[in-house]
Amino acid sequence: MSDFRYNTGDAKVPWAAVGESYGADDIIDVVRFLMQGEAPEYMSALHDVEKAVRALSRLGHPPGKLSLGANVSRLEELIDSSIGSRGSVFVTNATAGFEIAFRYANLSAGDEVIIPSITFIATMSYPLAVGAKVVLADVDARTLNMDPDDVARKITRKTKMIVPVHIGGYPVDMDPIMDLAKKHSLLVLEDAAHAFGGKYKGRALGTIGHFGAFSFHEVKNITSFGEGGVLVSSLPLAEELKRARFLGLNMQKKIPNWFYDVEALPGKDGPFVASNSSSTEIQALGLLRQLARYDAILAQRRENARLLSARLSQCHGVLTPPLGGDGTEPTAHLYCLQVDPKIVRGGMVALREKLDRRGVTSIPHFAPLYKFEIMRQLGYDTAKLAASCPVTEELFPHRFTHLPIYGLSPQQLDYMADSIIESVGELSRGA
Ligand SMILES: Cc1ncc(COP(=O)(O)O)c(C=O)c1O
Repeated sequence: MSDFRYNTGDAKVPWAAVGESYGADDIIDVVRFLMQGEAPEYMSALHDVEKAVRALSRLGHPPGKLSLGANVSRLEELIDSSIGSRGSVFVTNATAGFEIAFRYANLSAGDEVIIPSITFIATMSYPLAVGAKVVLADVDARTLNMDPDDVARKITRKTKMIVPVHIGGYPVDMDPIMDLAKKHSLLVLEDAAHAFGGKYKGRALGTIGHFGAFSFHEVKNITSFGEGGVLVSSLPLAEELKRARFLGLNMQKKIPNWFYDVEALPGKDGPFVASNSSSTEIQALGLLRQLARYDAILAQRRENARLLSARLSQCHGVLTPPLGGDGTEPTAHLYCLQVDPKIVRGGMVALREKLDRRGVTSIPHFAPLYKFEIMRQLGYDTAKLAASCPVTEELFPHRFTHLPIYGLSPQQLDYMADSIIESVGELSRGA
Protein backbone atom coordinates (compact mmCIF):
# COMPACT_ATOMS: atom_id res chain seq x y z
CA MET A 1 0.00 0.00 0.00
CA SER A 2 1.55 3.30 -1.01
CA ASP A 3 -0.94 5.38 0.98
CA PHE A 4 -3.95 4.85 3.18
CA ARG A 5 -6.59 4.78 0.46
CA TYR A 6 -8.31 1.72 0.59
CA ASN A 7 -7.36 -1.24 -1.48
CA THR A 8 -8.22 -4.13 0.79
CA GLY A 9 -7.98 -6.68 -1.98
CA ASP A 10 -10.10 -9.86 -1.98
CA ALA A 11 -11.81 -9.61 1.41
CA LYS A 12 -15.34 -11.03 1.54
CA VAL A 13 -16.61 -7.53 2.17
CA PRO A 14 -13.93 -5.40 0.57
CA TRP A 15 -13.44 -1.72 1.01
CA ALA A 16 -12.03 -1.30 -2.44
CA ALA A 17 -13.36 2.11 -3.25
CA VAL A 18 -14.86 4.56 -0.86
CA GLY A 19 -16.89 6.48 -3.39
CA GLU A 20 -18.89 5.63 -6.48
CA SER A 21 -16.79 3.73 -9.00
CA TYR A 22 -16.86 4.50 -12.69
CA GLY A 23 -18.63 2.51 -15.35
CA ALA A 24 -18.71 2.07 -19.11
CA ASP A 25 -20.50 5.38 -19.75
CA ASP A 26 -17.89 7.35 -17.85
CA ILE A 27 -15.13 5.73 -19.89
CA ILE A 28 -16.91 6.29 -23.18
CA ASP A 29 -17.16 10.00 -22.34
CA VAL A 30 -13.40 10.06 -21.81
CA VAL A 31 -12.73 8.24 -25.08
CA ARG A 32 -15.04 10.64 -26.92
CA PHE A 33 -13.20 13.56 -25.34
CA LEU A 34 -9.72 12.25 -26.10
CA MET A 35 -10.47 11.36 -29.73
CA GLN A 36 -12.96 13.85 -31.11
CA GLY A 37 -14.74 13.71 -34.45
CA GLU A 38 -18.05 14.06 -36.25
CA ALA A 39 -17.70 12.24 -39.57
CA PRO A 40 -20.01 9.25 -40.17
CA GLU A 41 -16.99 6.91 -40.15
CA TYR A 42 -16.01 8.34 -36.77
CA MET A 43 -19.51 7.80 -35.38
CA SER A 44 -19.50 4.22 -36.56
CA ALA A 45 -16.03 3.55 -35.05
CA LEU A 46 -17.22 5.17 -31.81
CA HIS A 47 -20.21 2.85 -31.77
CA ASP A 48 -17.84 -0.16 -32.02
CA VAL A 49 -15.74 1.24 -29.17
CA GLU A 50 -18.84 1.75 -27.04
CA LYS A 51 -19.86 -1.86 -27.58
CA ALA A 52 -16.35 -3.03 -26.69
CA VAL A 53 -16.15 -0.87 -23.55
CA ARG A 54 -19.54 -2.16 -22.36
CA ALA A 55 -18.34 -5.74 -22.87
CA LEU A 56 -15.12 -4.96 -20.97
CA SER A 57 -17.04 -3.38 -18.13
CA ARG A 58 -19.08 -6.58 -17.71
CA LEU A 59 -15.97 -8.78 -17.78
CA GLY A 60 -13.41 -6.63 -15.99
CA HIS A 61 -13.30 -4.41 -12.92
CA PRO A 62 -11.81 -1.03 -11.99
CA PRO A 63 -8.26 -1.00 -10.60
CA GLY A 64 -7.76 -1.01 -6.84
CA LYS A 65 -5.99 2.33 -6.96
CA LEU A 66 -6.38 5.41 -9.08
CA SER A 67 -3.91 7.65 -7.27
CA LEU A 68 -0.25 7.01 -6.36
CA GLY A 69 -0.22 3.36 -7.39
CA ALA A 70 2.01 0.99 -9.32
CA ASN A 71 2.07 3.09 -12.49
CA VAL A 72 3.25 6.18 -10.63
CA SER A 73 6.06 4.07 -9.13
CA ARG A 74 6.92 2.63 -12.54
CA LEU A 75 7.09 6.13 -14.00
CA GLU A 76 9.37 7.35 -11.24
CA GLU A 77 11.70 4.39 -11.75
CA LEU A 78 11.85 5.11 -15.47
CA ILE A 79 12.59 8.80 -14.90
CA ASP A 80 15.34 7.93 -12.41
CA SER A 81 16.96 5.47 -14.78
CA SER A 82 16.76 7.85 -17.72
CA ILE A 83 18.26 10.96 -16.06
CA GLY A 84 20.27 9.38 -13.24
CA SER A 85 18.20 10.87 -10.41
CA ARG A 86 17.30 9.07 -7.17
CA GLY A 87 13.83 9.15 -5.65
CA SER A 88 12.04 11.33 -8.20
CA VAL A 89 8.43 12.16 -7.31
CA PHE A 90 5.61 12.51 -9.81
CA VAL A 91 3.40 15.38 -8.70
CA THR A 92 0.41 17.33 -9.99
CA ASN A 93 2.57 19.79 -11.91
CA ALA A 94 5.96 21.50 -11.83
CA THR A 95 4.55 24.31 -9.69
CA ALA A 96 3.73 21.75 -6.98
CA GLY A 97 7.26 20.35 -7.31
CA PHE A 98 8.74 23.83 -6.81
CA GLU A 99 6.55 24.25 -3.75
CA ILE A 100 8.00 21.17 -2.08
CA ALA A 101 11.52 22.53 -2.66
CA PHE A 102 10.56 25.97 -1.32
CA ARG A 103 8.95 24.37 1.74
CA TYR A 104 12.08 22.27 2.29
CA ALA A 105 14.08 25.54 2.27
CA ASN A 106 11.67 26.86 4.96
CA LEU A 107 11.20 29.87 2.72
CA SER A 108 9.29 32.59 4.53
CA ALA A 109 8.70 36.34 4.75
CA GLY A 110 11.92 38.31 4.75
CA ASP A 111 13.91 35.74 2.75
CA GLU A 112 15.07 36.64 -0.75
CA VAL A 113 14.93 34.41 -3.83
CA ILE A 114 16.74 35.24 -7.06
CA ILE A 115 14.88 34.26 -10.21
CA PRO A 116 15.29 35.40 -13.82
CA SER A 117 13.30 38.36 -15.12
CA ILE A 118 11.86 36.30 -17.99
CA THR A 119 9.96 33.18 -17.01
CA PHE A 120 6.43 31.98 -16.30
CA ILE A 121 4.71 33.26 -13.17
CA ALA A 122 4.80 29.72 -11.68
CA THR A 123 8.51 30.13 -10.90
CA MET A 124 7.76 32.76 -8.26
CA SER A 125 4.18 32.10 -7.13
CA TYR A 126 5.14 30.32 -3.89
CA PRO A 127 7.75 32.91 -2.82
CA LEU A 128 5.19 35.67 -3.43
CA ALA A 129 2.52 33.76 -1.53
CA VAL A 130 4.65 33.45 1.61
CA GLY A 131 5.90 37.03 1.45
CA ALA A 132 9.47 36.22 0.45
CA LYS A 133 11.12 38.94 -1.64
CA VAL A 134 11.58 38.07 -5.29
CA VAL A 135 14.79 39.54 -6.71
CA LEU A 136 14.96 39.51 -10.50
CA ALA A 137 18.23 38.69 -12.23
CA ASP A 138 18.72 40.06 -15.71
CA VAL A 139 19.13 37.63 -18.60
CA ASP A 140 21.96 36.74 -20.94
CA ALA A 141 21.23 38.36 -24.31
CA ARG A 142 22.18 35.24 -26.27
CA THR A 143 20.39 32.50 -24.32
CA LEU A 144 17.61 34.51 -22.61
CA ASN A 145 18.60 32.64 -19.44
CA MET A 146 19.56 34.04 -16.04
CA ASP A 147 22.90 35.86 -16.22
CA PRO A 148 25.18 34.46 -13.47
CA ASP A 149 27.10 37.76 -13.22
CA ASP A 150 23.90 39.61 -12.42
CA VAL A 151 22.95 36.91 -9.90
CA ALA A 152 26.29 37.49 -8.18
CA ARG A 153 25.56 41.24 -7.99
CA LYS A 154 22.12 40.64 -6.46
CA ILE A 155 23.01 38.21 -3.66
CA THR A 156 22.53 39.70 -0.19
CA ARG A 157 22.66 38.33 3.35
CA LYS A 158 18.95 37.56 3.04
CA THR A 159 19.23 35.48 -0.13
CA LYS A 160 18.12 31.90 0.47
CA MET A 161 17.66 30.41 -2.97
CA ILE A 162 18.54 30.82 -6.62
CA VAL A 163 16.06 29.53 -9.20
CA PRO A 164 17.62 29.23 -12.66
CA VAL A 165 15.10 28.57 -15.46
CA HIS A 166 16.22 26.65 -18.56
CA ILE A 167 14.08 28.79 -20.79
CA GLY A 168 12.83 27.07 -23.93
CA GLY A 169 14.92 24.06 -22.87
CA TYR A 170 18.26 25.80 -23.39
CA PRO A 171 20.59 25.11 -20.42
CA VAL A 172 21.45 27.86 -17.97
CA ASP A 173 25.18 28.22 -17.39
CA MET A 174 24.98 26.18 -14.18
CA ASP A 175 28.63 26.02 -13.08
CA PRO A 176 28.87 29.67 -11.95
CA ILE A 177 25.42 29.43 -10.36
CA MET A 178 26.47 26.38 -8.34
CA ASP A 179 29.74 28.09 -7.37
CA LEU A 180 27.79 31.09 -6.05
CA ALA A 181 25.42 28.79 -4.19
CA LYS A 182 28.31 27.00 -2.53
CA LYS A 183 30.08 30.20 -1.62
CA HIS A 184 26.96 31.70 0.01
CA SER A 185 25.33 28.46 1.29
CA LEU A 186 22.25 28.85 -0.92
CA LEU A 187 19.89 26.24 -2.29
CA VAL A 188 19.46 25.99 -6.05
CA LEU A 189 16.11 24.94 -7.52
CA GLU A 190 16.23 24.37 -11.27
CA ASP A 191 13.01 25.34 -13.00
CA ALA A 192 13.37 22.62 -15.59
CA ALA A 193 9.77 22.93 -16.76
CA HIS A 194 10.97 23.06 -20.38
CA ALA A 195 14.03 20.95 -19.93
CA PHE A 196 13.32 17.25 -19.47
CA GLY A 197 15.94 15.33 -21.45
CA GLY A 198 18.30 18.27 -21.90
CA LYS A 199 21.95 18.30 -20.83
CA TYR A 200 24.49 20.81 -19.56
CA LYS A 201 28.10 19.70 -20.06
CA GLY A 202 26.93 16.09 -20.14
CA ARG A 203 24.78 16.36 -17.00
CA ALA A 204 21.00 15.97 -17.08
CA LEU A 205 19.16 19.26 -16.57
CA GLY A 206 17.20 19.24 -13.33
CA THR A 207 19.82 17.08 -11.56
CA ILE A 208 22.55 19.72 -11.19
CA GLY A 209 20.97 21.95 -8.53
CA HIS A 210 19.77 20.76 -5.14
CA PHE A 211 16.29 20.42 -6.64
CA GLY A 212 14.87 20.36 -10.14
CA ALA A 213 11.29 20.16 -11.36
CA PHE A 214 10.04 19.22 -14.83
CA SER A 215 6.64 20.04 -16.28
CA PHE A 216 4.49 17.68 -18.28
CA HIS A 217 1.70 20.19 -18.83
CA GLU A 218 -0.06 19.85 -22.16
CA VAL A 219 2.08 22.48 -23.90
CA LYS A 220 5.39 20.78 -23.02
CA ASN A 221 7.40 18.35 -25.17
CA ILE A 222 5.45 15.45 -23.66
CA THR A 223 2.42 15.46 -21.39
CA SER A 224 0.70 13.36 -18.76
CA PHE A 225 -2.78 14.13 -20.11
CA GLY A 226 -2.70 17.85 -19.50
CA GLU A 227 -1.00 18.28 -16.13
CA GLY A 228 1.93 16.68 -14.37
CA GLY A 229 5.37 17.38 -12.99
CA VAL A 230 8.35 15.56 -11.58
CA LEU A 231 10.54 16.78 -8.73
CA VAL A 232 14.07 15.45 -8.33
CA SER A 233 16.70 16.26 -5.74
CA SER A 234 20.42 15.68 -5.49
CA LEU A 235 20.11 15.76 -1.68
CA PRO A 236 19.54 12.42 0.09
CA LEU A 237 15.80 13.06 0.49
CA ALA A 238 14.18 10.23 -1.48
CA GLU A 239 11.84 9.06 1.31
CA GLU A 240 11.13 12.56 2.60
CA LEU A 241 10.06 13.86 -0.80
CA LYS A 242 7.60 11.01 -1.25
CA ARG A 243 6.07 11.93 2.09
CA ALA A 244 6.21 15.64 1.28
CA ARG A 245 4.04 14.91 -1.76
CA PHE A 246 1.28 13.57 0.44
CA LEU A 247 0.78 15.65 3.56
CA GLY A 248 3.64 14.10 5.52
CA LEU A 249 1.95 10.71 6.04
CA ASN A 250 4.40 8.06 7.20
CA MET A 251 3.09 4.57 6.43
CA GLN A 252 6.08 2.93 8.16
CA LYS A 253 5.07 4.43 11.51
CA LYS A 254 1.71 4.11 13.24
CA ILE A 255 0.01 5.82 16.15
CA PRO A 256 -1.94 3.41 18.40
CA ASN A 257 -5.08 2.09 16.71
CA TRP A 258 -4.32 3.81 13.43
CA PHE A 259 -2.60 2.95 10.12
CA TYR A 260 0.01 5.61 9.91
CA ASP A 261 1.63 8.59 11.56
CA VAL A 262 1.88 12.12 10.21
CA GLU A 263 5.10 14.06 10.48
CA ALA A 264 6.40 17.49 9.70
CA LEU A 265 9.39 16.88 7.46
CA PRO A 266 12.97 17.88 8.08
CA GLY A 267 13.68 21.07 6.15
CA LYS A 268 16.94 22.95 5.75
CA ASP A 269 16.53 25.09 8.86
CA GLY A 270 13.71 23.31 10.67
CA PRO A 271 10.60 21.17 10.16
CA PHE A 272 8.16 21.99 7.38
CA VAL A 273 4.52 21.08 6.85
CA ALA A 274 3.70 19.20 3.67
CA SER A 275 0.82 19.78 1.28
CA ASN A 276 -0.89 17.37 -1.13
CA SER A 277 0.40 17.20 -4.70
CA SER A 278 -0.48 13.57 -5.42
CA SER A 279 -0.74 12.46 -9.01
CA THR A 280 -2.96 9.87 -10.62
CA GLU A 281 -2.36 6.51 -12.24
CA ILE A 282 -3.95 7.77 -15.44
CA GLN A 283 -1.50 10.68 -15.64
CA ALA A 284 1.35 8.23 -15.08
CA LEU A 285 0.12 5.88 -17.81
CA GLY A 286 -0.08 8.74 -20.28
CA LEU A 287 3.47 9.80 -19.53
CA LEU A 288 4.93 6.28 -19.56
CA ARG A 289 3.76 5.86 -23.17
CA GLN A 290 5.10 9.22 -24.24
CA LEU A 291 8.43 8.64 -22.50
CA ALA A 292 8.86 5.47 -24.52
CA ARG A 293 8.94 7.57 -27.68
CA TYR A 294 10.65 10.63 -26.23
CA ASP A 295 14.07 10.05 -27.80
CA ALA A 296 12.48 10.23 -31.24
CA ILE A 297 10.46 13.32 -30.27
CA LEU A 298 13.57 15.11 -28.99
CA ALA A 299 15.55 14.14 -32.08
CA GLN A 300 12.81 15.53 -34.33
CA ARG A 301 12.59 18.80 -32.42
CA ARG A 302 16.37 19.25 -32.52
CA GLU A 303 16.49 18.42 -36.20
CA ASN A 304 13.75 20.94 -37.00
CA ALA A 305 15.58 23.61 -35.00
CA ARG A 306 18.78 22.80 -36.87
CA LEU A 307 17.05 22.95 -40.26
CA LEU A 308 15.39 26.28 -39.51
CA SER A 309 18.64 27.78 -38.21
CA ALA A 310 20.46 26.57 -41.32
CA ARG A 311 17.86 28.24 -43.55
CA LEU A 312 18.17 31.51 -41.57
CA SER A 313 21.95 31.50 -41.31
CA GLN A 314 22.35 33.94 -44.22
CA CYS A 315 19.49 36.18 -43.14
CA HIS A 316 21.09 39.48 -42.14
CA GLY A 317 19.65 40.97 -38.93
CA VAL A 318 18.38 37.63 -37.57
CA LEU A 319 19.95 35.86 -34.61
CA THR A 320 19.07 32.16 -34.31
CA PRO A 321 19.11 30.39 -30.94
CA PRO A 322 22.19 28.47 -29.79
CA LEU A 323 21.87 24.77 -30.63
CA GLY A 324 24.27 23.35 -28.06
CA GLY A 325 27.36 21.18 -28.54
CA ASP A 326 30.15 19.90 -26.28
CA GLY A 327 27.77 17.99 -24.05
CA THR A 328 25.19 20.80 -23.92
CA GLU A 329 21.94 19.55 -25.42
CA PRO A 330 18.85 21.75 -25.39
CA THR A 331 15.40 20.18 -25.58
CA ALA A 332 14.31 22.51 -28.42
CA HIS A 333 11.09 23.13 -26.52
CA LEU A 334 10.84 26.67 -27.85
CA TYR A 335 12.60 28.14 -30.86
CA CYS A 336 13.65 31.60 -29.65
CA LEU A 337 14.31 33.91 -32.57
CA GLN A 338 15.88 37.35 -32.22
CA VAL A 339 16.22 40.25 -34.61
CA ASP A 340 18.51 43.26 -34.59
CA PRO A 341 16.14 46.27 -34.69
CA LYS A 342 18.91 48.42 -36.15
CA ILE A 343 18.75 46.27 -39.28
CA VAL A 344 15.20 44.92 -39.17
CA ARG A 345 13.32 48.20 -38.91
CA GLY A 346 10.44 48.08 -36.46
CA GLY A 347 12.13 45.13 -34.73
CA MET A 348 10.24 42.05 -33.65
CA VAL A 349 6.88 43.81 -33.42
CA ALA A 350 7.01 44.62 -37.13
CA LEU A 351 8.29 41.15 -38.01
CA ARG A 352 5.55 39.45 -36.03
CA GLU A 353 2.93 41.48 -37.89
CA LYS A 354 4.37 40.47 -41.24
CA LEU A 355 4.62 36.81 -40.23
CA ASP A 356 1.09 36.89 -38.93
CA ARG A 357 -0.14 38.19 -42.27
CA ARG A 358 1.64 35.30 -43.97
CA GLY A 359 -0.08 32.83 -41.64
CA VAL A 360 2.94 32.04 -39.47
CA THR A 361 1.74 32.01 -35.90
CA SER A 362 4.06 33.03 -33.12
CA ILE A 363 3.64 31.58 -29.67
CA PRO A 364 2.83 34.18 -27.01
CA HIS A 365 6.12 34.70 -25.25
CA PHE A 366 7.12 35.42 -21.70
CA ALA A 367 6.72 38.98 -20.48
CA PRO A 368 9.21 40.26 -17.91
CA LEU A 369 7.73 39.49 -14.51
CA TYR A 370 7.84 43.11 -13.37
CA LYS A 371 5.27 44.01 -16.04
CA PHE A 372 2.55 42.04 -14.28
CA GLU A 373 0.04 43.83 -12.08
CA ILE A 374 0.63 41.38 -9.24
CA MET A 375 4.05 42.93 -8.60
CA ARG A 376 2.53 46.39 -8.13
CA GLN A 377 -0.25 44.93 -5.99
CA LEU A 378 2.34 43.38 -3.70
CA GLY A 379 4.21 46.66 -3.33
CA TYR A 380 7.19 46.08 -5.62
CA ASP A 381 8.76 49.15 -7.22
CA THR A 382 8.39 47.89 -10.78
CA ALA A 383 10.23 50.82 -12.38
CA LYS A 384 13.21 50.02 -10.18
CA LEU A 385 12.98 46.34 -11.10
CA ALA A 386 12.89 47.22 -14.79
CA ALA A 387 15.92 49.47 -14.39
CA SER A 388 17.77 46.60 -12.72
CA CYS A 389 17.26 44.42 -15.82
CA PRO A 390 18.51 46.49 -18.79
CA VAL A 391 19.06 43.52 -21.12
CA THR A 392 15.50 42.31 -20.54
CA GLU A 393 14.20 45.82 -21.21
CA GLU A 394 15.88 45.82 -24.61
CA LEU A 395 15.07 42.21 -25.56
CA PHE A 396 11.46 41.94 -24.55
CA PRO A 397 9.82 44.71 -26.57
CA HIS A 398 12.18 44.79 -29.54
CA ARG A 399 14.09 41.61 -30.19
CA PHE A 400 12.73 38.19 -29.44
CA THR A 401 9.84 35.87 -30.09
CA HIS A 402 9.11 32.14 -30.14
CA LEU A 403 8.30 30.18 -33.24
CA PRO A 404 6.61 26.81 -33.60
CA ILE A 405 9.13 24.02 -34.12
CA TYR A 406 7.39 20.67 -33.72
CA GLY A 407 4.70 18.78 -35.57
CA LEU A 408 5.45 20.71 -38.76
CA SER A 409 5.78 19.15 -42.18
CA PRO A 410 9.00 19.87 -44.12
CA GLN A 411 6.89 22.15 -46.32
CA GLN A 412 5.59 24.14 -43.34
CA LEU A 413 9.12 24.50 -41.98
CA ASP A 414 10.32 25.73 -45.36
CA TYR A 415 7.38 28.09 -45.68
CA MET A 416 8.16 29.56 -42.26
CA ALA A 417 11.83 30.06 -43.22
CA ASP A 418 10.83 31.67 -46.54
CA SER A 419 8.37 33.96 -44.76
CA ILE A 420 10.99 35.10 -42.24
CA ILE A 421 13.59 35.72 -44.94
CA GLU A 422 11.14 37.68 -47.12
CA SER A 423 9.71 39.70 -44.21
CA VAL A 424 13.15 40.54 -42.80
CA GLY A 425 14.25 41.59 -46.30
CA GLU A 426 11.24 43.90 -46.65
CA LEU A 427 11.75 45.47 -43.22
CA SER A 428 15.47 45.95 -43.81
CA ARG A 429 14.66 47.85 -47.02
CA GLY A 430 12.06 49.90 -45.13
CA ALA A 431 9.17 48.24 -46.99
C1 LIG B 1 9.19 28.36 -17.26
C2 LIG B 1 8.05 27.63 -16.61
N1 LIG B 1 8.14 27.32 -15.32
C3 LIG B 1 7.16 26.65 -14.70
C4 LIG B 1 6.02 26.26 -15.35
C5 LIG B 1 4.94 25.57 -14.59
O1 LIG B 1 4.72 24.26 -14.97
P1 LIG B 1 3.40 23.51 -14.52
O2 LIG B 1 2.29 24.03 -15.38
O3 LIG B 1 3.68 22.06 -14.74
O4 LIG B 1 3.19 23.83 -13.09
C6 LIG B 1 5.88 26.54 -16.71
C7 LIG B 1 4.67 26.12 -17.43
O5 LIG B 1 4.33 26.54 -18.49
C8 LIG B 1 6.92 27.26 -17.35
O6 LIG B 1 6.81 27.60 -18.64
